[in-house]
Amino acid sequence: MAVREILKMGDARLLAYAKPVAAHQFASLALTDLIADLEDTMQAANGAGLAAPQIGVDLQVVIFGTGQMNPRYPDAPIVPKTVLCNPVITPLNHQMQACLEQDAPLSDGWEGCLSVPGLRGVVPRFLHIHYTGFSPDGQPINKYVTGFHARVVQHECDHLWGKLYPMRVKDFTQFGYTEVLFPELSSTA
Ligand code: NI
Repeated sequence: MAVREILKMGDARLLAYAKPVAAHQFASLALTDLIADLEDTMQAANGAGLAAPQIGVDLQVVIFGTGQMNPRYPDAPIVPKTVLCNPVITPLNHQMQACLEQDAPLSDGWEGCLSVPGLRGVVPRFLHIHYTGFSPDGQPINKYVTGFHARVVQHECDHLWGKLYPMRVKDFTQFGYTEVLFPELSSTA
């Protein structure tokens, strides 16, 4: 399909709550085309994930994972390639049971974002999550994930609620330019 322009932080479209994919949109040509564009755009930018609002499309659709090593995150575990519509995330405790947000353990980790180029920051995320949603053809998705995989899901789904990772940074001493913080990654931003 096509490599689309990625909106950058400051664009109001990145701050909106995206519309759910409606029943008649599942398995449609338009949704198939949107996902092809998301995949082409993410691959061209070496992204770990991309959400529809990042290419200016007001729909609850995210893609993440590549199934192989990502040059922007060479030390990160491999995340399976996933397309997810209308996601719902529930935080879990160490027993992997649903719990209130304030009771869910957090973990800190570095994040970057294709809409915030050239920067990295440490963001607390739930360590364990349950997520549900639908595949593009309307099949239910129901998964338990942890660690980096859970972080990627939370980062991408945040784009659907109008949240960018800098809004979740707690310690701005751990926020800065990739070329300064991680000179070995500067060529991949
Ligand atoms: Ni992002």
